[in-house]
Amino acid sequence: MCGIVGYVGNSAARDAKDIIIDGLKKLEYRGYDSAGIALNIDGELQIRKHVGRIANLENLIAGETLASRIGIGHTRWATHGAPSDVNSHPHCNSNETIAVVHNGIIENYVEIKEWLAKEYGITFKSETDTEVIAHLIGIYYDGDLQDAVYKAVEKMRGAYAIGVVAAAEPDKIVAVRKDAPLIAGLGEDCNFIASDIPALLKHVRKIYLIENNETVVIKSDSVKIYNAERKEIKRDVFHVTWDAESAEKEGYEHFMLKEIHEQPKGLYETLTRRIEEDGSIKLDGINLSKEDIENFDKVFIVACGTAYHAGLVGKFVIENLAKIPVEIDVASEFRYRDPFVNERTLFIAISQSGETLDTLAALREAKRKGARILSVVNVVGSSVARESDDVFYTWAGPEIAVASTKAYTTQLMCMYLIGLYMGRTRGILDEERYTNYLKELKEIPDKLKELLKKENEIHDLAKEIYKKEQVFFIGRGSDAGVSYEGSLKLKEISYINSFAIAAGELKHGTIALIEKDTLVIALATQEKLYEKMLSNIQEVKARGAYVIGIAKENNTEIEKQADRVIYIPNCIDEISPLLSVVPLQILAYYIARERGCDIDKPKNLAKSVTVE
Ligand code: G6P
Repeated sequence: MCGIVGYVGNSAARDAKDIIIDGLKKLEYRGYDSAGIALNIDGELQIRKHVGRIANLENLIAGETLASRIGIGHTRWATHGAPSDVNSHPHCNSNETIAVVHNGIIENYVEIKEWLAKEYGITFKSETDTEVIAHLIGIYYDGDLQDAVYKAVEKMRGAYAIGVVAAAEPDKIVAVRKDAPLIAGLGEDCNFIASDIPALLKHVRKIYLIENNETVVIKSDSVKIYNAERKEIKRDVFHVTWDAESAEKEGYEHFMLKEIHEQPKGLYETLTRRIEEDGSIKLDGINLSKEDIENFDKVFIVACGTAYHAGLVGKFVIENLAKIPVEIDVASEFRYRDPFVNERTLFIAISQSGETLDTLAALREAKRKGARILSVVNVVGSSVARESDDVFYTWAGPEIAVASTKAYTTQLMCMYLIGLYMGRTRGILDEERYTNYLKELKEIPDKLKELLKKENEIHDLAKEIYKKEQVFFIGRGSDAGVSYEGSLKLKEISYINSFAIAAGELKHGTIALIEKDTLVIALATQEKLYEKMLSNIQEVKARGAYVIGIAKENNTEIEKQADRVIYIPNCIDEISPLLSVVPLQILAYYIARERGCDIDKPKNLAKSVTVE
């Protein structure tokens, strides 16, 4: 993944180093195992890099002036080569006249590396794929950086966004995008490149979204975009309407906790923006006609991570409301298994960032096969959004914590809205059921506010159980989908080995692992499956498990089976995932906090995964 930032200005009052480092901090969600910077100072490239967080890089350069008006920076999520000083970006050619920052993977880097070693006798300092880019540009460079970059790119296969500076051209940064996000920011007497908007929000509101195979050349007074044929092209300015504050912690100890608390608002926005005065649903950004909807014979939901878990519930919802078969797959599997997709398939891609490479690749595969592409995305103007036929935005606001919370619940809300709309259009849902469903959805933000008041109660529970090293999550129906998400939340931020399984499947093997005091979190929010769940709880209790149940307020029978119960407000079965996931998010948060984990930046993870 990684984040890149570049800055060129013409005022000595603005220091490139400070601007770049500040921007990198806003991109740490993209990776944070090392960071580095390259500055052009009096015609020489000064490179500083350090393994670990950006704070380590800051400490490294604390005593240096390093005044400059141009530079590039990088925050890394290691793919090729372990996190280390030498593998950190920027990478240079042999005489350090060219420096490169890179997000992505160069798939043929071994081939290029061998060629460079054989033909040019080049030796390599790092184990990275990126270093070959710097050497390639170095051998082609004869005073025209843009031209050398073009020649280098012709040799490269893979996915990348790169930013390049040359010692001899202190006025420009050349950047290229192919399958990894890249934007240019338009400032006053200064311009920028970056992987994502938050890096630049302090300085600019006007952005160019760079497309695949485009090159952008930024100087302090110009930003020029070139297509693959090297022709300069015009681009509309994208105006950012949200502010930097919405990406700040606002007094919460962690972004994750803040984002958990933002869910009522996110859900309210995602829902109410789509409800017309007459009670009908308007899917803004979706241009599916009645004929289109009637013509689909299948829906395919594809996503990764938490977004995939939203899809698991989405399958239940859409099948139930619109009576159309829904297949679901993780994106990395979908694209390589020749899935059965054609013109009568509605392909739904779910992605918070809109930049997840596996999801993007799956989307392209489905498009190639003729499917209609509808994406559910949080980041406006992201790659997934731009490549889709129809885009349905979640109104979660910027999500910073690596562990996704408000994106998940707003994605769920989108699933309900899409399901209701399709069900109504296909004539499956009668007026009464539709109206009641919508009424229940409208009550969710307030019910969630009530539920969030249980934070202290859940914190106390976390204090009792945080030392457990193994947890099982079980549920039936849509509760099974929520179990997967609860389990993922816990493992990714607390590093506890957690496992989710459909409760009825437990007895077919996994129950062998249940012994005295094993922690089992049992979701029992589905009325029609309630008794079955109570039996499943009894099965684990009989083996000595310690059970925490999640149930609706009016289903208190569970107290006889479970050791502890967290109640959620009553609602119709179908929409309980919007509520039942929240105690699991809070529990994961406080367990991780009690264990002293770095909650917003868990080890080995990144918020936006733009590599395969
Ligand atoms: C990463 C993140 C997850 C996220 C997944 C999909 O793995 O750590 O939290 O669910 O990517 O991201 P997307 O942006 O496509 O929803």
